Amino acid sequence: MTGSIVLFGPPGAGKGTQAGRIVELTGKPQVSTGDMLRAAVKLGSPMGMAAKEFMDAGLLVPDEVIIGLIQERLQEDDAKQGVLFDGFPRTIPQAESLDKIATVSSVISIEVPDDAIVERIVGRRMDSETGDIYHVKFNPAPAEISDRLIQRPDDTEETVRSRLEAYHAQTAPLADWYSERGLLIKIDGNASINKVGDSVEAAVSRIL
Ligand code: AP5
Repeated sequence: MTGSIVLFGPPGAGKGTQAGRIVELTGKPQVSTGDMLRAAVKLGSPMGMAAKEFMDAGLLVPDEVIIGLIQERLQEDDAKQGVLFDGFPRTIPQAESLDKIATVSSVISIEVPDDAIVERIVGRRMDSETGDIYHVKFNPAPAEISDRLIQRPDDTEETVRSRLEAYHAQTAPLADWYSERGLLIKIDGNASINKVGDSVEAAVSRIL
């Protein structure tokens, strides 16, 4: 399948958790704007430092910064046959800019109600070496890696509420935008990680 896939959904919906399965099935590289921004923060670049203020406050980073990052990433060789976007686009202007530089063939939307999101995000832990995602209750990490687990600075209850507000105000309208273009596939994300994975696989096999 040519073209790119967008993995869409609220913060903590399980986009990062499910992305690996889609990468395996499609061979398309995962392009996560959240991961790219966290890498820039870690490097301490001026862009990273400016983005950090928005991220820590649970606000979206300005569109022009994100669009610049994506334009640069899509120049790389592995992006020629399309990619799996994770966490991008997140505003209508981002989607409009993407339309000018790449073809989106489908948008997989993982739907999770707000009341399930807070528990997922506050309990998230990440392996600082591999980036693997765990949850203290829903997907506990193996005991042998417990000393390298980290919690993202924006994974506090207070910041999650701001992230959800930003999602509803700026990102959720994109579901209609993509639905009007016949590209939106909805997945029930309010189920176990494995069940959601099965639904994601079924959706991907329909579009391959
Ligand atoms: P980003 O990193 O993209 O964060 P997000 O969209 O808020 O998404 P998350 O990474 O929090 O969640 P996820 O859906 O990947 O869930 P996960 O699989 O980890 O963005 C961070 C910030 O960067 C933004 O706030 C913004 O400031 C900025 N930014 C990024 N992209 C931007 C853009 N395009 N424009 C502007 N700003 C941008 O799962 C969450 C937890 O739940 C885990 O612990 C997991 O184990 C658990 N879990 C997963 N699935 C299930 C399940 N089915 N049942 C129970 N638990 C589950």
